[in-house]
Amino acid sequence: MSLTRRRLLTGPFAPDPGHAWIAARGREAARAGDVEAQAAAALIRISSNENPLGPGAHVVAAIAARYPEASLYPGNATDREASLVGVLAKKFGARDEQVTLGAGSGELLTNAVRAFTSTSRPLVTAWPSFEAPRDTAKKIGTPVREVGFDSALRIDLDKLVEASKGAGLVFFCNPNNPTATVHGKTAVADTVKAIRAASPDTVILLDEAYHDYVTDPAYATAMPLAVSTPNVFVARTFSKAHGMAGLRAGYAVGDARVISALAAYKMPNGLGTLTLAAAMASIANTAHIDAERARNTEVRAFTVKAFADMGLSGTASQANFLFMDIKRPAKGFRDACRAAGVLVGRDFPPFEQQYCRISVGTMDEMQKAVAVFRTALAGAPTTSRQGGR
Ligand SMILES: Cc1ncc(COP(=O)(O)O)c(C=O)c1O
Repeated sequence: MSLTRRRLLTGPFAPDPGHAWIAARGREAARAGDVEAQAAAALIRISSNENPLGPGAHVVAAIAARYPEASLYPGNATDREASLVGVLAKKFGARDEQVTLGAGSGELLTNAVRAFTSTSRPLVTAWPSFEAPRDTAKKIGTPVREVGFDSALRIDLDKLVEASKGAGLVFFCNPNNPTATVHGKTAVADTVKAIRAASPDTVILLDEAYHDYVTDPAYATAMPLAVSTPNVFVARTFSKAHGMAGLRAGYAVGDARVISALAAYKMPNGLGTLTLAAAMASIANTAHIDAERARNTEVRAFTVKAFADMGLSGTASQANFLFMDIKRPAKGFRDACRAAGVLVGRDFPPFEQQYCRISVGTMDEMQKAVAVFRTALAGAPTTSRQGGR
C-alpha cells in the first residue's frame, strides 16, 4: 500500500490530507479548548506567499523514513549537505564548488550582503522588493541605493544598471516580491551584461524564489548565465512551490569564487537531517512541481478574473501572489478582510495607498476569500492612481 500523509503521520502529527499543516495544529488546540487557536485555525492565511498544500506526500514519506536519524548531526545522516549539493550541481550543469546551501534562501541573501557590501560598497535593490538584503545592509551600515519601477511595476532595469556603478551587490528579484512582475530572459541577460560593463567588480544576485510559478514564455531561469558568468549567482528556495517554508532550505548556484565567499558565512549544520531528506525527495520529483505550477496558475487566473468582475486589476502576476490595485489604502481593506477571517499582505510603501499583496491559496480558500473581498471593496474608491517610481 502506498504511503500517504494520513497513514504516515499519526498521533501528534495527524493532519488530514490536503489541509495546511497549520490548520491541523489548530484542530489539536481546538480539541484542547484553546479559543484563540480555534480562531487562528479558521483563518484563511493568504498573507505570506506560502504554499497552501505544504510538501507533497513523497516528501512527507521521506521525512518519516528518516525520522530515526533526527538524533544524528546532518553530517552523519543518510542525506547530507554534500548529497544535496551534488544533486543540485548536476541539475544545473555546475560543479559542486558552484553550489552552496542555506537555511532558506533568506540566509543566502543576508550573507551575500555581509560578504559583498561594505560602508563604501553599496547594496542596490529595487524597492519595494524582498526585504532581507536591505534589512541586513541597514544593520551593518551598508548604504542602500533603491531603484523604482516602470509603469507596469516591473523593475526599472536602466536605473538598476545606473545604480550598480561602484556597488558591492545588486539584488535583482525576478519575479519581484511584492510586485509579482517578471523580466524575460533577454532583458535579464542584457542587464547582467550592462552591469558587468558598468561595474565589473559588482556581484549580481538573481533571486528566483518564485521561479516555479512563472508561466510567461519570455522568461527563463538565469541558472545557465550564473554558472558561466563571473560575479553572478542565482538564489532559490524550497519555501514556495516545494511547500517547505517551515523546514528552511535554500541554495545558491553560480560563479565558484562568489559561491566560496558566500559559503564562508554559512551556518554549519544549518540544514537539519529531516530538512535534507525532504529537499532530496522534493528536488527529484519535477512532476509534482509542474502540478503545483498548474494548480497555482488556475487559482491565480480565477482570482484575477474575480477582481476583473469587480472592475479591478493588478500587475501581471508571475508568482503565487497578486499585487492588486484596490484603489484604496491597503490597511482598511486588510482590516476588513481580517475581521471576516481572511489575512492579506502587509503594507508595501510607497504603494500602500493603492495596492495590496494577496497570496494565492487553494481554490476553495480563494472562492471564500473573493466573497470577503467583494464586501470589503463594495464602497467607492478613495485613492487616485499611484504611479511607479
Ligand atoms: C523573493 C524572495 N526571496 C527569498 C525569500 C526567502 O525565503 P526563504 O528564506 O524562506 O527561503 C522570500 C520569502 O518570502 C522571497 O519572497
